[in-house]
Amino acid sequence: MTATLQTRPTVAAPVVHDLPKLDPQQLRVEQCRTLDTPRRRYSLAARLLFVGMDLMYGRKRTLDKFRVLEIVARVPYQTWETVTYKQITKRHRRPLDIRRLWDRVLEFRTQQDNEQWHLLILAELVAREGKPATLRSKLWYDLLPRLIAFGYWHVAWLLYALKPTWSHRLNADFEDHAEHEYAQLVTEHPEWESTPYFSVVAEEYGTFDCLADLFRQIGHDERVHKQESEQHL
Ligand SMILES: [Fe+2]
Ligand SMILES: [Fe+2]
Repeated sequence: MTATLQTRPTVAAPVVHDLPKLDPQQLRVEQCRTLDTPRRRYSLAARLLFVGMDLMYGRKRTLDKFRVLEIVARVPYQTWETVTYKQITKRHRRPLDIRRLWDRVLEFRTQQDNEQWHLLILAELVAREGKPATLRSKLWYDLLPRLIAFGYWHVAWLLYALKPTWSHRLNADFEDHAEHEYAQLVTEHPEWESTPYFSVVAEEYGTFDCLADLFRQIGHDERVHKQESEQHL
């Protein structure tokens, strides 16, 4: 074992600890690129998920609906991290395996933390709309997303435990869908080009000239998430 540890192993993919932040011009270019790129051929499971979301929350793109999507978006990364830690426990006598798995955990956590920023930003924007809380909104936008996240956690965990590529494929579809939905959302709101954006709780995510640029950046993040998952296919 000592001989194999004389040199550091080359990991398959570089570990990304942060996602790229683009300037306003780059953001516009990348939004157009997304709109010009056809969507992935979604799996049946992904299509059922998207249709289910449309049935529950409507086809209209609203901030409320995107907040629900962001609650669900973190889930696969959480399951992958959990499963990978268990694999580390199992292979604790093999340092090279531990290193490879640890790099994977860091990658998953980076994506998960990025999704957490998205959720924080959406939660703040929705709260700013100041809609009154009704019984329906509490059921639909508080309770139901938690149930969806609970169910999705088990699906993602099971897929990853059985065959990791199945879970990565489902996530790549989910992220591709999110990337396109955010790009479309920006085109539907030309007024956002001149709406200033500021945040009290998510300042560290970045500063943007306008609300449209914020959502262009989030959409680009979703593309990076998709590409990370595609690397595992
Ligand atoms: Fe997201
Ligand atoms: Fe994402």
